[in-house]
Amino acid sequence: MATRETSRSTSRSGGTSRSRTNNRSSNNNGSSTGSSPRSGSESSAFSWDNGGRTAVIGAAVAGVAAGFAANIGRKFIVQFATGRGDWMESLKNEHEMTLAIFDKIEATRDDQTMMRGMLLMQLKHALSKHAMEEENVIYPALREANEGAEADHLNSDHGYVKTFLYELDNIEKTSPEWIAKVREFRTMLETHMEEEEERIFPEFHASLSEEQNKKLTAAMHKEGLKLA
Ligand SMILES: [Fe+2]
Ligand SMILES: [Fe+2]
Repeated sequence: MATRETSRSTSRSGGTSRSRTNNRSSNNNGSSTGSSPRSGSESSAFSWDNGGRTAVIGAAVAGVAAGFAANIGRKFIVQFATGRGDWMESLKNEHEMTLAIFDKIEATRDDQTMMRGMLLMQLKHALSKHAMEEENVIYPALREANEGAEADHLNSDHGYVKTFLYELDNIEKTSPEWIAKVREFRTMLETHMEEEEERIFPEFHASLSEEQNKKLTAAMHKEGLKLA
C-alpha cells in the first residue's frame, strides 16, 4: 500500500426538577374551585401571565435561537472552508483538510489525551460529512454511469474508515498502540484518496458534460450542508 509522499504528508506537517402541587381541589383561599380545571397558580407552562415564567421561557427561546444561529454560522464556516466550487475540487480540499487533522493528531504526545479526544472528534465530523457527500451523491452517480465496481470498492473502504474510528475510540489514548493505529488509518485513507483524486474522479469528471458536473456539484453541496 503506497503512502503518499506528496507535500500533504510531510509539509503540513440543574436541571431543576419541577415540583407539582396539586391544588386542583382548592385555591389559595382554601375554597373549592369546583369545576374549574385549573387555578391561576397552576396555569399551563405555556401561560404568559407569570413574569418569572415568562422570563424563563424567554431565556429558553433566546437560547434556542442562539443555538440555531451558531449552527447556521458553523455550517457557513465549514462550507466556506471546503469551498462551494466544483465537486471534484471540493472533495480534494476536504481530503487536504482531513490530512491536516491527522498532522495535528500525530503531533500530540501520549499524555495529551484531551487534545487527542478533541481532534478525533474533529476527524469524525470531517469524515462523516465527506462520506455523506460521496456515498449519497458521487458513488451513486458513478454506479449510474456503469462504474458500479469502482463505487463499491470505494464504498467498502469507507466501511473500514468507520472501523478505524471505532478502534480508536476503544484503545487507550495514552497507549503507543493508539498513535500506531492513527498512522495505519492515515496510510489506508491516503491510498483511498489517491485512487479518487488521481484516477476515478478525474476520469468520471471528464466523462460528464459541463451541465452534468454542475448538477452533481449542486447535489453534493446540498448533501454536505446537512452535516456541515
Ligand atoms: Fe471516499
Ligand atoms: Fe474522498
